Amino acid sequence: MVKIISPLPNLITVFGGTGFLGRAIVHRLVESGMRVRIVARHPRAPNLAGARGQIALQRADVRDEDSVAEALKGATGVVNAVGLYVEQGQATFRAIHEEGAERVARRAGEAGIRRLIHISGIGVDPASASKYARARAYGEQRVREIFPNATILRPSVMFGPNDAFLNSLKTVTRLPVVPLFGQGSTRLQPVYVEDVARAVLQVLEMPEASGKTFELGGARAYRYRDIIEQVLTHLSRRRLLLPVPFVVWRLLARIASLLPNAPLTLDQVILMETDNVANAKASTFNDLGIEPCSLEQMLSACLDELSC
Ligand SMILES: NC(=O)c1ccc[n+]([C@@H]2O[C@H](COP(=O)([O-])OP(=O)(O)OC[C@H]3O[C@@H](n4cnc5c(N)ncnc54)[C@H](OP(=O)(O)O)[C@@H]3O)[C@@H](O)[C@H]2O)c1
Repeated sequence: MVKIISPLPNLITVFGGTGFLGRAIVHRLVESGMRVRIVARHPRAPNLAGARGQIALQRADVRDEDSVAEALKGATGVVNAVGLYVEQGQATFRAIHEEGAERVARRAGEAGIRRLIHISGIGVDPASASKYARARAYGEQRVREIFPNATILRPSVMFGPNDAFLNSLKTVTRLPVVPLFGQGSTRLQPVYVEDVARAVLQVLEMPEASGKTFELGGARAYRYRDIIEQVLTHLSRRRLLLPVPFVVWRLLARIASLLPNAPLTLDQVILMETDNVANAKASTFNDLGIEPCSLEQMLSACLDELSC
């Protein structure tokens, strides 16, 4: 009698698997029965009951060839969810979002890995005044050249329990007067972090998603000031909203950059000058069969769980 040996489940290496999005991705993949290798400079096991046998931890830095190659050994798929928002010493946007992205793609190709999901962001642009947005755009280009079948996911700003986005709005609405970026009319399409994680799983299960780029915005686009107003209403706070010209924000960001832990960077200000919504011509959640949650639906759960 022939004994049928079922194949080992997929092993997905998740670079940045301890981050805000990375944790949600790991959770989804584990839930779906996959094995996951969590990769970071300081890897930590998630608190996922019963998932011990499915999770491995690996220390690696996307700036280091050998550690990247080691992290990819035996993997069937790879997700690059490494994040860097503020440059620190050698950890520059170029080193992480451009060269690191290229390294992961090249090493994944050399290792014979078929599926690569590269997390980028809406608004990446090689001509942007933002160093961050330029590095991300060049990173995408390099990934595409080296690994044409990669799937690129570009989320808008993400929210969820303990996020940076709603958390910072909650903090800023403690002030008696809430300063707006310009008139507060920049449009954002906040997306629930769990929806982006669902998209990652869906892409892994859809061969036809290979080689495509998806722009992942939430259910609705809002002006920045409308989001602030929603947060104020939810927290039962009444505040004056004060428009502050972008030229003033740029100046403040330049001054803040002299501080060790700058609360505001020039890149953040530049990014707030442009709408951050999914391009109408792009592939979106719709093409993945996912209906994203709205901010209204999740606001309570997210704000109530915030620790601030
Ligand atoms: N959060 C948002 O609203 C948002 C919106 C659009 C796009 N995105 C994109 O989504 C991705 C994930 O963002 P996130 O907010 O989840 O980031 P995050 O919370 O800051 O997490 C970053 C992750 O990357 C790891 N990492 C940082 N530098 C590394 C390095 N040199 N080598 C290896 N791992 C490194 C970190 O772990 P260690 O520090 O231990 O290495 C951590 O696991 C990023 O590409 C980001 O640009 C985020």
